[in-house]
Amino acid sequence: MERDKNIVILGTGGTIAGVAEQAGTSVGYRAAQLGVAQLLQAVPDLQCVAAASLQAEQLAQLDSKDMDHATWHALALRCAQLLGRDDVGGMVITHGTDTLEETAWFLQCVLHPAKPVVLTCAMRPATAVSADGPGNLRDAVACVADAQAAGRGVLAVVAGRVFSARQVRKVHPYRVDAFDGSGVGPEGWVEEGQLRWAKSGMPQAASAGSPARALPPADHWPQVELLHSHAGCSSAVTLTVMQAWHAAGVRGVVVVGTGNGTIHQALGPALEWAQAKGMALRITTRCEEGQVVQAQGEQDARATSLPAVKARISLMLELMGWPRSPD
Ligand code: SIN
Repeated sequence: MERDKNIVILGTGGTIAGVAEQAGTSVGYRAAQLGVAQLLQAVPDLQCVAAASLQAEQLAQLDSKDMDHATWHALALRCAQLLGRDDVGGMVITHGTDTLEETAWFLQCVLHPAKPVVLTCAMRPATAVSADGPGNLRDAVACVADAQAAGRGVLAVVAGRVFSARQVRKVHPYRVDAFDGSGVGPEGWVEEGQLRWAKSGMPQAASAGSPARALPPADHWPQVELLHSHAGCSSAVTLTVMQAWHAAGVRGVVVVGTGNGTIHQALGPALEWAQAKGMALRITTRCEEGQVVQAQGEQDARATSLPAVKARISLMLELMGWPRSPD
């Protein structure tokens, strides 16, 4: 990032802004209590790390388990606006850990930012003796300020590691290094305020010209649901659920299959019914690593290599006219 630019830090809530009654407590606290300006104050040398001017803005204040499409819409529009300004060199978004990977993927799909956009979070509330938020925030700012961060799309910085929006996922409910890169290593590391990239010299991605501005209001976004295949599936129950979803306006379903995207035979009637009604289907795997691998010549257009929660977002955008995201 050029040195004379501003870095905007958007606050959305999460444990990074959380407060506990007792400093020793790392669970049972209230997320999303402190404003983003207070988070910045907890990192005294933030200005030195960035060598840029920092501007804090509160976009939302929620526990990210409750993330909703209206907040995503507001976030995407504000990001597009800020990234379009010449004086803004990049952005940090403070977020809860629970749905960070979903927000990161959503923003990647609708912004394709050429400037760095970095999400960060914390596993311990701001009041904890071992609060990890200040260090993560410092690392995220260092990442945005780094000369090689641009062109890598939306990133997440947690516990000293940098992940792409496509790969990042939360894998642990308690540990401080709760995220990984879905079987591929991190994009890079932040060490003492310095970035070490796994691969250097990434090509500068072209910005798609703020496509986020084309998003309709969130109450017009098509609803897409997840349906899990598991032992003991019931034809009658899943058909009833599918019919109820359809009646409630659900337009797409991501089937979280077993193994290589296989689906319990009991789901057959529900899926056939859904297809006949024009509902869009995608099939992914519930396996933690890898992706659905198709036999050559037997390509099922419904199969996706995205994990379920990201496939849900991509299908929702596709139903709004977005091109299908590369898997
Ligand atoms: C949240 O996701 O907002 C709460 C949990 C966390 O940030 O770790």
